[in-house]
Amino acid sequence: MSTPRTPASSPRTTDPDWWRQAVVYQVYPRSFADTDADGLGDVAGITSRVPYLASLGVDAVWLSPFYPSPLADGGYDVADYRDVDPRLGTLDDVDAFIRTAHEHDIRVIVDVVPNHTSDQHEWFRAALAATPGSPERARYVFREGSGESGELPPSDWVSNFGGSAWTRVPDGQWYLHLFAPEQPDLDWTNSEVRADFEHTLRSWSDRGVDGFRVDVAHGLAKDLSTPYRPSNEQALPLDGSDPLYDRDEVHEIFATWRAVLDEYDPPRAAVAEAWAPAPRRVLYARPTELGQAFNFDLLESPFDARSFREIIERNLSASEQSGASSTWVLSNHDVVRHATRYGLPEGTDTDAWLLTDGTDPVLDRERGVRRARAATMLVLALPGSSYVYQGEELGLHEAPAIPHALLQDPKWIRTGHTVKGRDGCRVPIPWTRTGPSFGFGDVAPHLPQPDDFGASSVEAEEDDPTSTLSMYREATAARRRLQRGEELTWTEAGDDVVAFARHDGWRSVTNFGTTPVAMPEGDVVLASGPLDAGDGLLPGETTVWLG
Ligand code: NOJ
Repeated sequence: MSTPRTPASSPRTTDPDWWRQAVVYQVYPRSFADTDADGLGDVAGITSRVPYLASLGVDAVWLSPFYPSPLADGGYDVADYRDVDPRLGTLDDVDAFIRTAHEHDIRVIVDVVPNHTSDQHEWFRAALAATPGSPERARYVFREGSGESGELPPSDWVSNFGGSAWTRVPDGQWYLHLFAPEQPDLDWTNSEVRADFEHTLRSWSDRGVDGFRVDVAHGLAKDLSTPYRPSNEQALPLDGSDPLYDRDEVHEIFATWRAVLDEYDPPRAAVAEAWAPAPRRVLYARPTELGQAFNFDLLESPFDARSFREIIERNLSASEQSGASSTWVLSNHDVVRHATRYGLPEGTDTDAWLLTDGTDPVLDRERGVRRARAATMLVLALPGSSYVYQGEELGLHEAPAIPHALLQDPKWIRTGHTVKGRDGCRVPIPWTRTGPSFGFGDVAPHLPQPDDFGASSVEAEEDDPTSTLSMYREATAARRRLQRGEELTWTEAGDDVVAFARHDGWRSVTNFGTTPVAMPEGDVVLASGPLDAGDGLLPGETTVWLG
């Protein structure tokens, strides 16, 4: 057996299973903290806020991409996987961040984007300069078109951002991109592609990174045989028969990644972004592969007891079968913030709502935050890892009224201005009540913040014991104190209630309805809102933890 590789910096504690029940805080680097007055967040800004992250009691920070990127897709178009966008800093800055995080016993997870590169990546430039059939083109998916003279795309596959998934280059060939044209798909049957990503995993692991979030993990293996078969990502069959997504062959790639991650002590953690139904999604999370896969079911769930319970049961059982631990996500950089989702009438089409600049239907802001707090405390009591998206600890709402000219999401253009996209959850977070960007930096931020953002700032919430920020801090601290094992036992307490015990003593009870319900006996550890419904009653839209 070879000696484990020694990284540049390590966390203070050494539990190899730290990721199984972690609270992981997602930082969207360009919107977190700007120290060099260019309107874009930077790595030094994140480092300067490590004490804040420590005060939140999170176990790890996941950094969305900070690599060199032309920003055709918010940094998920990577031009160099082993470097830093000069607008965000340097490799030394990243080393300093990792070191500082580790000094605070916070692990670091970085994003790895293997399905596609940026069109500015040196490989794609070389591919364009080379001829059809060349080794340079073989790293990507170049094909001849259809139609009499190849003037039509090779297949009818559509991009996730709208329009054809194929773009034609001047010599007549077409290349595949499941996302924007600036994000050409790599060919994962190519050995150079595989070797290069293994190099990337080692390179960040050597720098001390503790884990990886794997973008579009379900997209790497594709059936490109002809005639091309139709793809339908939205209605994935359960048998892995889609030509583009969630194919059985993809697992062999992640088994080789696991071998690389296991070269380290402790082994590096990984979490797959794999859009597949729970029983197939957890295959990516097997101990022989990545360890975890994001469960996005709650992103699509209404605030409803039956729906939450069904999702939790389904995911816990699927995870158990695969030997993985579960993951819980209420918000991330791709969806409307959960405080906002829960404050809109059930069934609201959020894309349509965004097109009205958030005016129709009317958002019940208070109710949204009340429900978001209840949902957050519920998921923080579940076994497995909770992924928290920057700003949700402030009860932040979506910013729905960004002027059209300032929208950055490729969805806006690619859908012919019919879908605004994801910028509203990527607006820089407010640190102070006032200031040119509410403490984000010294100049106007790259995406404009709503005027009322200061009221939800860290400064405004810091010393308020009833604030959402205080609730997150208390909840993570209580979770640390109380959490043992990964068991959960359900308690039946009525149609509108989700109640369970983690182990003797720690129970979580959520009233999803609006009428107060009887509260079980026990000492109150923490509640997501005021317990003002009368003695022994749990108010509506509230979670209580009992100890
Ligand atoms: C998933 C990422 O979360 C999203 O932001 C990105 O646009 C796509 N993958 C493509 O990389």
